[in-house]
Amino acid sequence: MTGSRLLGTGSALPRQVVTNAQLAEWVDTSDEWIVERTGIRQRHIAGEGETTATLATAAARAALADAGVDASSIGLIILATATPDNTFPATATKVQDALGCNGGIAFDVAAVCSGFLYALSVADSLLRTGMAKRALVIGAETFSRILDWEDRTTCVLFGDGAGAVVLEAPSADNAGKDAPGIIGSKLHADGAQHDLLYVDGGPSSTQTVGHVRMRGPEVFRHAVVNLSDVLKEVLADTGFSASDIDWVVPHQANARILDATARKLGITPDKVIVTVDRHANTSAASVPLALDVARKDGRIKAGDLVMLEAMGGGFTWGASLIRM
Ligand code: UT7
Repeated sequence: MTGSRLLGTGSALPRQVVTNAQLAEWVDTSDEWIVERTGIRQRHIAGEGETTATLATAAARAALADAGVDASSIGLIILATATPDNTFPATATKVQDALGCNGGIAFDVAAVCSGFLYALSVADSLLRTGMAKRALVIGAETFSRILDWEDRTTCVLFGDGAGAVVLEAPSADNAGKDAPGIIGSKLHADGAQHDLLYVDGGPSSTQTVGHVRMRGPEVFRHAVVNLSDVLKEVLADTGFSASDIDWVVPHQANARILDATARKLGITPDKVIVTVDRHANTSAASVPLALDVARKDGRIKAGDLVMLEAMGGGFTWGASLIRM
C-alpha cells in the first residue's frame, strides 16, 4: 500500500527582500562572492510582526486552499522549525489556534534543515496508524533572528520563509507503482557531527538564544556524500531507479551542493528544482517552499515521481519519494 497522499501545498515569504548588494553595505562581502560560492542572489527577511508562527499559518492557509479542504478536518499539525516563537509551547499549537482547529495533535519537530523530511515521515507514520485522517506538515523558519550579522561566513547564507503540505491518510485500495502518495522515506542522524553546524546558545546551556555557527567546507563535503547515499537508499528500497524520477526537490543550501548531488546520481540539472537564488537557505522551510513554487508554476504535475531530500545540523538527513 502506498503511504499518505499529498492533497495540496502552500508557502509564505516575508515582505522584505534583501539583495546581496544590500548585505555588502553592512558586512564585508560582495555579490560576486555570494553568487559564485552559493548561487544566492537575495533572501526574504522577516520584519516587524512577522514570526515563524505567522509565516507558518500563512503557508498552512495557502496549502488548505490549494487542497480544497477545511481546517476543521485537520487532526494533526507537525511544524518543523529551529526558530520557534517561544521555547515552549510548540509553535504548532499557535498555528492550530490561528487556524481554528484546536483539539487534534500539534507539536514541533527539531531537525533543523532536515526538519521537514522528519516531520513528513512522522506525519505519514501517524496517519498510517489511524491517529488522524488529515495532517498539515509545515516547515517554517526565521533564521534571520539567530544569525550573527557580523559573521560573513554564515549571515549571507540564510533567509526566512515557510512551506506547508496537506496530507491525507492512505486507503487500502491505493496501491501499485502509479498510486499517488508517499512511496518510501529514510531518515538518519549522526550526533558525532554536532559541532560542525550548531547554535551556540539555548535555554539549558546559556539561557540565551545564541547564534548559528558553521564549519562550511566540512558541512559541504558531508552533505554531498550523505545526500547521494540516502537518495540511493530510498531508490533501492522502493524499487525505482534514478531515471524514473521526474523531479528532485532538494534542501536549498548551496547551488553547488545541488549540482554535485544530482551529478553523483546521474540526474540532469533540468530535473532539479532550484530556489536558493531567490530564497537562500530557509532551513526546514526550504523543501516545502521549493515544492510549492514548482507545483504552482506548473512544473510538478499530478502523477510525477518526486524525490525530496535534505541535510542539516545534528547532522540529520533524509529523503522521501512521492508520487504526486
Ligand atoms: O543547511 C545546512 C547545510 N549547510 C550547508 O550545506 C552549507 C555547506 N557549506 C557551504 O555551502 C560552503 O562551504 C560555504 C558557502 C559556507 C562557503 O563556501 P566555500 O567555498 O566552502 O568557502 P570557504 O569557507 O572555504 O571560504 C573561502 C574564502 C575564505 O577566505 P580565505 O581564508 O581563503 O582568505 C573566507 O574567509 O572566502 C572567505 N569568505 C567570504 N568572502 C566574502 C567566507 N565568507 C565570505 C563572504 N564574503 N560572505
